[in-house]
Amino acid sequence: MKILISVFLIFYSFTIFPINCVAQNNFYKNGMVSSADEIASEIGIEVMKKGGNAIDASVAVGFALAVVYPQAGNIGGGGFMVIHLNDGRNTSIDYREKAPLLSHRDMFLDKNGNVIDGLSTTGHLSGGVPGSVKGLLFALEKYGTMKREEVLTYAINLAENGFEISPRLAKVLNEYQNQFSKFPSTMKIFGKNWKAGDLLIQKDLANTLRLISNYGAEGFYTGYVADKIVEEMKLYDGLISYEDLLKYEAKERAVVTGTYKGYEIISMGPPSSGGISLIYLLNILEQENLGKYGYGSADAISVMTEGMRVVYADRSEHMADIDFYEVPVNVLTSKEYARKRFDNFGNDRARNSDEIKPGNIAKEKENTTHYSIADKDGNCVSVTTTINDNFGSKLVIEGAGFFLNNEMDDFVSKPGVPNMFGLLGSEANSISPEKRMLSSMTPTIVLKDGKPFMITGSPGGGRIITAVLMSIINVIDFGMNIVDAVDKPRFHHQWYPDEIQAENGMLSETVRKELVKRGYKINDFRDYASLDVIIFNDNGEMRGHSDRRGYGKAIGY
Ligand code: GLY
Repeated sequence: MKILISVFLIFYSFTIFPINCVAQNNFYKNGMVSSADEIASEIGIEVMKKGGNAIDASVAVGFALAVVYPQAGNIGGGGFMVIHLNDGRNTSIDYREKAPLLSHRDMFLDKNGNVIDGLSTTGHLSGGVPGSVKGLLFALEKYGTMKREEVLTYAINLAENGFEISPRLAKVLNEYQNQFSKFPSTMKIFGKNWKAGDLLIQKDLANTLRLISNYGAEGFYTGYVADKIVEEMKLYDGLISYEDLLKYEAKERAVVTGTYKGYEIISMGPPSSGGISLIYLLNILEQENLGKYGYGSADAISVMTEGMRVVYADRSEHMADIDFYEVPVNVLTSKEYARKRFDNFGNDRARNSDEIKPGNIAKEKENTTHYSIADKDGNCVSVTTTINDNFGSKLVIEGAGFFLNNEMDDFVSKPGVPNMFGLLGSEANSISPEKRMLSSMTPTIVLKDGKPFMITGSPGGGRIITAVLMSIINVIDFGMNIVDAVDKPRFHHQWYPDEIQAENGMLSETVRKELVKRGYKINDFRDYASLDVIIFNDNGEMRGHSDRRGYGKAIGY
């Protein structure tokens, strides 16, 4: 059997993935995929070589990541897809998870009104109704060109026959053994001491993917897979019901747009806070000459920090699922509001987050993953998808083989109590049946003169927004090439906690001293957020880069 599998893998790698002789430093004409996993990127390229467009490739990559990147790639979670079509249209698909019909505002509180530790982050109650399958298939049917069976075949083969895991996947799987041990269904597939090169076979997941391939979304939201989800919920007091699964719909939504120094920014609107916050921050920073201050300078860091402080304060109050709460999108993305909120900032002293309140507007250890794809015809796709934490709720649905998300933690369990990313929120983002929890995912496309200039996005919980911001300003303001723009150290501030979270190497000793003198608190932070970015030159050729912080790969042809 082992020999058969090895023969299959050798055959598979040489037939499905012809020798990859691309160099990361070059620009390519025909297509580019940057994702968190090399196998997934190869699949995206293969789909485009077969004549598929960027949307076909993004759907194949999405399903493949559910197999090869189980810590965040998923069919048990949700995501957002931002699309720029070569005819100039922009659109986005929202397949964010929803709160189950039986959920309620105080479901994570004890009888004294205190948040019960771990309930919103682990196990059955932490899961929202998954949206990924509906969302990916919606994108394929409306904007793709290939058959469902064609794009799913790669993921099915990888799940059925297995793939050799990388050192990084072995490490992350081993780190989570303790948390997996609560769930026999998870242990059955993922419970062991993993070594790089071990074969990860996921038969149940292969069966689920085959049902999706054969029957479309119905193969997931009804029938065998729905039975398995509901059985699991009934056994352990989870809330997701047949009705939840039947009612789940992905939604096509207008993108949010802005401009920055002559570039057009296209990003994801609510229920993500990402696009609005990014545009709001860029509107603030447009008033400053960051290029003159220079990357890593005390002045650039001060001004960016103060912008972040203001934006995250407003995020906590004014952003939520727009189907449930009137998010003032136009105000928050307007240049005028950014000017008003950032008036009179002198960068010689730190403000204090207690001084900054959300604006008064009349009536919005993570794991998530991002991929960017462009095809030869100028179609661009920017997708961020998540099950929230690494391996989501840690629960694999018995018999269906996929991790359920723990996205319920992105709601506000109780105003004033931070979620797992330390983010605060208000009543606007409280739990309500069928509501989508607020996200920070920021899949973004930047255009210049109407043509693609950059596709960017990242995992990173609350830090996604500032990581995406820095990928853009590193190029536009600091003149970096794509590799530096992605790999250079970053920092983050999110209003509360009132501290600059600085990656190793971000602050020189002089700058650190100067920032402390100005009154900033600094918290040294491990590397976070792994960008996958594509940039275009004036001829429309593409170059991709997958962040040094992750273990993904950008591949072009
Ligand atoms: N689960 C992380 C986010 O959506 O922001």
